[in-house]
Parts: sequence; C-alpha cells; structure tokens
Amino acid sequence: MIPYKTIIKLDKDTKQALYLQVANQFIELIKKGMIAPKTKLPSSRLLAETLQVHRRTIVAAYDELILQGWVETIPKKGTFVHRDLPILKQKALGSLSKGVHKERIGFSFNKEPGIDFPVFDKKENFLYINDGTPDARLAPLPEIAKIYRRIAAKKRSIPYATYHSTYGNPELRQALAQYLNQTRGLRCTKDNVMITRGSQMGIYLLSQLLLQEKEYIIVGETNYIAANITFLNRGAQLLRIPVDHNGIVTEAVEELCKKHPVKAIFVTPHHHHPTTVTLSAERRLHLLNLSQTYGFAIIEDDYDYDFNYSHAPILPLASHDKNGNVIYIGSVCKAVAPVYRIGYLVAPKPFVDECAKLRRFIDRQGDSLLEYAFAYFIKEGGMERHLKKTLKIYKKRRDLFCTLLKTELKDYFNFEIPKGGMAIWAVLNAKYKWEDLVVLAEKHELEIGNWQRYDSAKIGHNGIRFGFAAYNEEEIHEVIHRLKQSCLGLL
Ligand SMILES: Cc1ncc(COP(=O)(O)O)c(C=O)c1O
Repeated sequence: MIPYKTIIKLDKDTKQALYLQVANQFIELIKKGMIAPKTKLPSSRLLAETLQVHRRTIVAAYDELILQGWVETIPKKGTFVHRDLPILKQKALGSLSKGVHKERIGFSFNKEPGIDFPVFDKKENFLYINDGTPDARLAPLPEIAKIYRRIAAKKRSIPYATYHSTYGNPELRQALAQYLNQTRGLRCTKDNVMITRGSQMGIYLLSQLLLQEKEYIIVGETNYIAANITFLNRGAQLLRIPVDHNGIVTEAVEELCKKHPVKAIFVTPHHHHPTTVTLSAERRLHLLNLSQTYGFAIIEDDYDYDFNYSHAPILPLASHDKNGNVIYIGSVCKAVAPVYRIGYLVAPKPFVDECAKLRRFIDRQGDSLLEYAFAYFIKEGGMERHLKKTLKIYKKRRDLFCTLLKTELKDYFNFEIPKGGMAIWAVLNAKYKWEDLVVLAEKHELEIGNWQRYDSAKIGHNGIRFGFAAYNEEEIHEVIHRLKQSCLGLL
C-alpha cells in the first residue's frame, strides 16, 4: 500500500486549488513509475480521510485525472491507473528532476558549422567592448509603449491582431516608403517594401533567393561577419576584394566579374563594416555601372545611415539605382533599440514578392501591432526627434572616446576618427596581440569578446571595432582606464 499520507503534500495557502494539487501529485507519481499502470487507487472516501480533505476534492481530482487520460474507472471495480500508459523509464526521470538533462540528447541533429559565436553571460561589474550598438537607455520606450497602447485600443487595429500578411504591416510599409523616399532619396512604393525582423532576416531571405550552392558573391576582405556566415550557410562561395580608405576597391569587382559569373555583392557603403570608411562617389557610380553590365545584385546594408557627424548623410546607392539592381536593407534596431526587431527590405516588386513567400517558412508574420505602432512613431515625427537627440549625444561620446584613445593609448592603437556610425576601427600596434590583450582585459573586468570575427579572411590587420555609443561619459572614462591598465601589461 502506497503511503499517500506522507507522499501527497497539500498546501492550503497557495492559489492552486486542492483538487489540482492532488491530481498533479498523482501525475508525478505515475510518471515516476511509483504507481504502475493498472494499479487501483484508493476510494475517494478513504483518500479524503487519509489526506484530511473533503471527499468532493478527491472526486474532482480523480475526474481531472480521468479527463487527462491518466486514470480510468472500471464500473463496479474502482479507479485504476490507465492500463495503456507507456511505462516511462525511471532513470531518465530521476536525472531530469536533478536538472542534468540539459546535456542529454535523445535524438540526432545537424550542427551548424558556420555559427560559432560564443554567447557571453554578462558578468557583474564587467564592461563590454561592443561592435557599435546603440544606448538602449536613450530609446524612447515609454513613447513607443504609449503609441502601442493608444492604437491597440482602436477597433481598426483588430485586423492586425490576427493572422496577417507576410509582407508586414501595410501601414508601416506605406509609412516607410514615404520616410525612405523623403530622407534617403529612394523612389519606392509600399509594394517595394517588406518588413523583416531586423536586417538579419533580410540578409537571410535574399541569400536564399539570390544564391545557389557554389555560386559567387563578392564581399570585402573585411566584412560584416554575420553576412559572410549567412552566405556560406547557403553554400555560396565568397570572393573577397580589398577595402581601402575609399571603401571597397571596385576595380577588383570588375576583375572578378570577368572571371566568374558573380550573382551579388554585399556592401555597407555609408560606413563600411567593420572599418567605417565611406565608399567614394566615383566608386559608387562604378559599382552601379558594373552591376548593370554584369547583371549582379548589389545588397546594400545601410545599417547606420542615420548617424553621421560631420556632414549630411550620403544618399544610398539605392537612390541612384535606375536599373533595379539594388536590394536595400535597414532596420530600426540600431536607430532605436535592438529589442525592436523591425527591419525592411526594399527591392523591385517581383523580388519582394518572393521574399514575402519565403519568409513564411521561418516566420508566419511579423509583430503586426508593434509594426503599426512604429508606423505612427514615424508619421508623428517620433523617429526624427529621437535621431536628432541621439545624434548629438553620440557625437559627444565619439569625440570623448577618440580624444581619450589618442591621449591615453596612442602607443597602442591607430585609428581615424569615424565620420559617422557608432564604432571606431581601432588597429592594435603590430607588436602586440589581441589574444594577449583579451586575457589581460579580463583581469581588469573588461570583456573584449570575439575579436577574431573582424578578420575572417585572416589577413592579419590587427583591428577591431570599439563601439562608443552605448556608454555614457563616465563609462567611457572607465573603459579607457581599464583598457589602459590592460595594455600596460602587454609585453
Ligand atoms: C553591418 C550590420 N548589418 C546588419 C546588422 C543586423 O542588424 P539587425 O539588428 O537589424 O538584424 C548589424 C548588427 O550589428 C550590422 O552591424
């Protein structure tokens, strides 16, 4: 006889009803194999007496167990654990309760060789060197939340609360088409715009549609690693071209096009990722001409268009594209905050249509109500106000970071003051090694992270990006201080 009195523990102070507590504990006992299939349960009167509860509680608990299929009643005989329950192996369940199941895998699966970024658990008191991320503390979260609340209360929002288009919220597509035309000289309509969950989704979708196994895509020798990985994941072959003070060397594009059937080129012309240089006007025109001559797509990732400190932003390649060669991608993740997974892909309509179809395999739709809120955020001028405010702050932060880097660490780093964006391209003096500095920095509670990602072509440039935008002034002083302390340990 199972000692139910000691095994089943009831807590009258919790919100969970007593009958559910009884039922759930029976389920646990059955799952653990402590009560085998076909075992007779005590009568409701007996168990009620044993557990000192009302009989109705036990009747309700048994009803719940019957409903869930754990037990069955056999007329004139009583209540039994269901005879057809599979016997679960007790060993596995035992270890499960101790929490060691995280390492155990009961099935095989494919590992993704291309994605090998370590995920850092944030360590207390540590400061983190980042790639150029915005300061989420400046994001207008309350304003966006207010808009969201306001529109969610409106009847006309209801259609966006159900299954909707894979193109994204139509109001945001419309608002973005207008916004991009006005601020970036694009000449697009809503039909050319698809809303994605950040730029990365755009890069993934277009790589699936543009590239087949072994087909060629051109990228800079230094390039945004996540884009490289996405193209390699597709099975494409990367053709790498040099990058100098004027951006990617377009003569090298021409040379490659003469030798290979190139399908696409990935560029970040406004501020090359990672080196931050701007693609010169001459090379922009050259690249556009080459794309027409050789019929390849230009993937223009305009990840930090809004942040330019010395002059007005340079219009994107997409604004000069007359032949339909440019696929333009961007997002609000850098402009506002990465938590808002809202990006856009702007391209000729037939391509957008295919992207919208393909998206369905991985994401039925975006967050349509949030997208709707962003349509209002843009239309009501919230986006422009936010950008104006942050541009000023980030400029100050850039100036401070660069001044300190120059005065405190000139023997260690070479860099140019970036004209825009959120990061400095800092090249460590060739006599030092990043792997040594990373270890030293760790001791000073400074996490440099995966510095190798900036040199996937292994050219040994010794540079990484120092994001400056996410720190306030005090933090910038502290980052430089810790960096200096770390550098002093270098041999
Ligand atoms: C060059 C570049 N492109 C795209 C992205 C991805 O941005 P999102 O957060 O919009 O996916 C980043 C993010 O760091 C980036 O640096």
